[in-house]
Amino acid sequence: MAEKKQSIWAQLKARIAVDSVDENDEKIYKSGGRDFRKPKDAKGTLIRILGYAGKRKSLFALVLVTMLISTVCSLAASYYLRPLIDDYIVPLITSPEKDFSALARQLGILAGIYLASAVATYFTSRTCMTLAQWATNALRRDLFSALQDLPVTFFDEHTHGELMSRFSNDADNVQMCLEQGIVQFLSGIITFVGTVGLMISLSWKLFVITLVTIGLSFALVKGIGKYSRILFKKQQSSLGALNGYIEEMLDGLKVVKAFNYEDRAKQGFEERNDEYRDNAIFANFLGSIIFPTMNAVMNICYAVTAVLGGFMTVAGSFTIGSLGVYLNYIRQVTMPINMMSNQAINLFSAIAGAERIFAIIDHEPEPDEGAVTLVTVDRAEDGSLTETGHGERTGFWAWKIPQSDGTYEFREVRGSVRLENVDFSYVPGKPVLQDFTVWADPGQKIAFVGSTGAGKTTVTNLINRFYEIDSGRILFDGIDVKDIKKAGLRRSLGIVLQDTDLFTGTVMDNIRYGKLDATDEECVAAAKAANAHGFISRLPDGYNTMITGNGQNLSQGQRQLLAIARTAVARHPVMILDEATSSIDTRTEKLIDRGMDALMEGRTVFVIAHRLSTVRNAKAIVVIEHGKIVERGSHEDLLQQQGRYYMLYTGQSELD
Ligand SMILES: Nc1ncnc2c1ncn2[C@@H]1O[C@H](COP(=O)(O)OP(=O)(O)OP(=O)(O)O)[C@@H](O)[C@H]1O
Ligand SMILES: [Mg+2]
Repeated sequence: MAEKKQSIWAQLKARIAVDSVDENDEKIYKSGGRDFRKPKDAKGTLIRILGYAGKRKSLFALVLVTMLISTVCSLAASYYLRPLIDDYIVPLITSPEKDFSALARQLGILAGIYLASAVATYFTSRTCMTLAQWATNALRRDLFSALQDLPVTFFDEHTHGELMSRFSNDADNVQMCLEQGIVQFLSGIITFVGTVGLMISLSWKLFVITLVTIGLSFALVKGIGKYSRILFKKQQSSLGALNGYIEEMLDGLKVVKAFNYEDRAKQGFEERNDEYRDNAIFANFLGSIIFPTMNAVMNICYAVTAVLGGFMTVAGSFTIGSLGVYLNYIRQVTMPINMMSNQAINLFSAIAGAERIFAIIDHEPEPDEGAVTLVTVDRAEDGSLTETGHGERTGFWAWKIPQSDGTYEFREVRGSVRLENVDFSYVPGKPVLQDFTVWADPGQKIAFVGSTGAGKTTVTNLINRFYEIDSGRILFDGIDVKDIKKAGLRRSLGIVLQDTDLFTGTVMDNIRYGKLDATDEECVAAAKAANAHGFISRLPDGYNTMITGNGQNLSQGQRQLLAIARTAVARHPVMILDEATSSIDTRTEKLIDRGMDALMEGRTVFVIAHRLSTVRNAKAIVVIEHGKIVERGSHEDLLQQQGRYYMLYTGQSELD
């Protein structure tokens, strides 16, 4: 047993040594090319958490008042024992007349004080609960809205599981801390200070003895608490890693099975699961030894005080009532310490969680420095453009370009897109696109072909500014896309992403996602144009069929058709269609091709093709390899050149 204990201590020390620099589990966020570390400021974070609760001022005040009443009442009730014993019970023992009525009255008052304390306690915890729910609701809202505003690069660096655990564990911890932690902590402080004051007033000599013991307890709690904070933080982050892993493996379940990856998945899980267990054991181990240790110290204090106080009472320098109350206080004075040390651990894990939440909230949002906006305009006979009011649909869109003299130039949205000498890398030093130049005049269809990983999807990520280019220019109707407000830019681009993401809701809702104010008729028309109407009509509830779990009840091809319909509904001047790579049956393929062709009518289109049948009628076909354009020309030109495209087309080389 002794040996086991020692080894736990040894392990614990080793852990603390590794973690005391708690840099390891510190997340470093990248923001604008600079490293951004989360604040390690417990006090500031706590104040910020309280700020969330403080928004509900009246509830916040109610909590403070009722907490104060309940604490003061319970202090008063315990002190009341002294006059009760000395002035009412002791005289009764010695007096020949046994009149209990005065004592009964006093007991009645005592009961009243206890009742007031109980009622106040009830209101404190009830109000706290409401307050905590309000505050975490606001915190979650801020977190979610911050996430919506973050650049795509942020999500490349953080797993879903990790971000999910900000909403679950971390937000839960903050809620718990607001529900109980902070109030109990405050009331603990008041009770402690009050009790100490009363103890000194009863006998400062006895208090010196108590003080030494309390000092000893404090030193212990402080020492242990310091390490618990580090360990609980570690426990939380390993839980995040564990959940992240589970989610990733469940999401990719089919891939895991298809690649016979089960054993490695289990092993990966076991490592994380074990790490969480070990961290949790150590963190909780520290939490659990605080209480018994303090109890033992305080019991010794109790015994010594009882003996000395007894002598003092016999010698006549102390009353029986005072001794009774004092001994009671020794028991009580430990309670707020226990409570505070227990709450301190909860408080620390809540602060650690809140720090991680605030790190996301404080993360620089996606920059949007563009000044050019997209507006609807009226076109007069002479071709001049005037901006229309909000929401008016004229079908004409224009770029509103601020001029140096404070006026605006209106330039009709025509849909010409040029990429000039663009260089781009996701990871600095690893170029993905190099000296990339392509252009599409209004109404032209440009096709990209090339092997997987060549950089086709990347081109589209740059046009809509999911990522920023390293050098070169991207022009939309002659305007640098950097100068265009992102909302306007993305509104003028219709994009069918390679991975179709559908949302929970009906088929109709999902189509309407492309344009929120579209009528049912517009949605159906878009579905017809995209060739999706046929299969939708055959679904059990037609357009009202519920889509769940990212469209798992639909086939890959159907999902793609729906995504095309979703883009079709908005009628953007420029479209980017990124074909899904996975193979679909030839019938659906034809449907998709025809759907896409219908959409392309009269618009500028970039189509990323995995099937060469799609690209034959393109104005220009751009062949990309390793981020560089290796060939460019019409279908016939390229066949004549007998280069890479020719090889692909004649089947002498494979696309993917
Ligand atoms: N978010 C990202 N972070 C880092 N690298 C990325 C990211 N997205 C893509 N890449 C890398 O950039 C390169 C180009 O990827 P891209 O998605 O543009 O290829 P693609 O031509 O669309 O391929 P596919 O035909 O498979 O769709 C690849 O090497 C890929 O690994
Ligand atoms: Mg791609």
